[in-house]
Amino acid sequence: MGNCNNAPDLNVKEIKVPNKCEYNFLYVIGRGGFGRVWRAEHRKTKHQYAIKEMQKCKIVNKKSIGSVMNERYLLSNLRHPFLVNMHTAFQDRESLYLVMDLMTGGDLRFHLCKNRTFNEEQTKFFVICILLALEYLHNSTVIHRDIKPENLVFDKNGYLKLTDLGIARIWKPGNDGDTSGTPGYMAPEVMCRQVHGVAVDYFAVGVIAYECMMGKRPYLGKTRKEIRDQILSKQVTIKANYKPIDWSDEAADFINQMIQRKPVNRLGFYGPEEVFAHPWFKNIKWDDYLTQLKQPPYKINVIQQQSRFQSSSDNFDQKFANLQDPEDEASAKQNAELLKRDSIQEAFNGYTFKSQNSQQTIQDQSNSKPTTSMSQQITPTKKNLLDSDRQIESKSQKKYNLVQTLGFNKKLNFTPDQPLAQREQTKKNFDF
Ligand SMILES: Nc1ncnc2c1ncn2[C@@H]1O[C@H](COP(=O)(O)OP(=O)(O)O)[C@@H](O)[C@H]1O
Ligand SMILES: [Mg+2]
Repeated sequence: MGNCNNAPDLNVKEIKVPNKCEYNFLYVIGRGGFGRVWRAEHRKTKHQYAIKEMQKCKIVNKKSIGSVMNERYLLSNLRHPFLVNMHTAFQDRESLYLVMDLMTGGDLRFHLCKNRTFNEEQTKFFVICILLALEYLHNSTVIHRDIKPENLVFDKNGYLKLTDLGIARIWKPGNDGDTSGTPGYMAPEVMCRQVHGVAVDYFAVGVIAYECMMGKRPYLGKTRKEIRDQILSKQVTIKANYKPIDWSDEAADFINQMIQRKPVNRLGFYGPEEVFAHPWFKNIKWDDYLTQLKQPPYKINVIQQQSRFQSSSDNFDQKFANLQDPEDEASAKQNAELLKRDSIQEAFNGYTFKSQNSQQTIQDQSNSKPTTSMSQQITPTKKNLLDSDRQIESKSQKKYNLVQTLGFNKKLNFTPDQPLAQREQTKKNFDF
């Protein structure tokens, strides 16, 4: 893929700025809003990763610089077995690259299209995986805000991991102006531009569980307006005689509590603990999931794990791989001009990142002037990574109005059948 013209024009052995020449880009395994996701191999270690490539001109044209910088900032501060973790981030003149854990099982959308529905055991397993990821995020005061099947990817064993922190935010008061998300999974309070908190993610979990059970979403519609009208017109409830015969009452009750339109009535409004305490999870040994000892009930067809070549085992429909957005001559010229502007390139300063277990450290690599002034942009190996991270952090906080993670301690001790009135009086730790 491409060439390596943008490699640092330096002959300094000790400085290792991550760049795309370190990787063989094998083939496309996903498509995102700003470009493709590649299966890639690190040339030296032979380790395989997923690399999300994002075109800078698309990011600028969609006014999403804040979102991509925010995603990279959050990923460098978060790490969990049920998140798709980031290893490295780098950029060249045209694109940003996010090097992540490789998930070869495909996303949940692909499998929903293939299977239409899942059984209760499989759905419960998926929900548990999502809840474990959300518990970690919410306890770090991060709301994901885009929980949907496309952003949930299976590893080769059938464990489901959460990805795409593109519109995730550290919670801050007065977020009623934020309406990002995907309409079919968007909580009513976000659709109606109200202040919202962690409960928006649980609404989406309820929608996904409903979809796995019924083969369709609870609130349907082709446009945002149609879906909004559906949500506003009535509360959907799975009735006892309407659920599939082999599903338990607890499962239906869980889903019903998660798709509550009013956030205060929704399970999860007060945080992850009350969700974990639901009777559907009565005998669940959470540690067996966290340590991934539990055998996943949904088998992923991954045959050629070590293959360097494209195969159907990657669970991605290749017809989407080479889809290109039509770009006329005029806009191609305009985009090329855009990328020449220093102010545009500078907007991505701070994107480059190398994880802590790496020997070398970096501060930033902006390629606004690819062959000059690199030495000013790279901090020598002596510089501590945490230092550079702190700089990026404070810069990001100023630029993108991020709030420090509070890391608060909560122990709410919910019981499953605690009446709503009692719950409402409970300390509102998660009322954000
Ligand atoms: N780490 C990964 N391993 C395998 N496939 C992935 C990985 N991350 C994303 N994908 C696939 O690529 C798609 C786009 O990635 P995503 O991060 O969601 O981009 P966007 O932010 O543009 O939506 C996902 O829907 C998923 O199918
Ligand atoms: Mg996505």
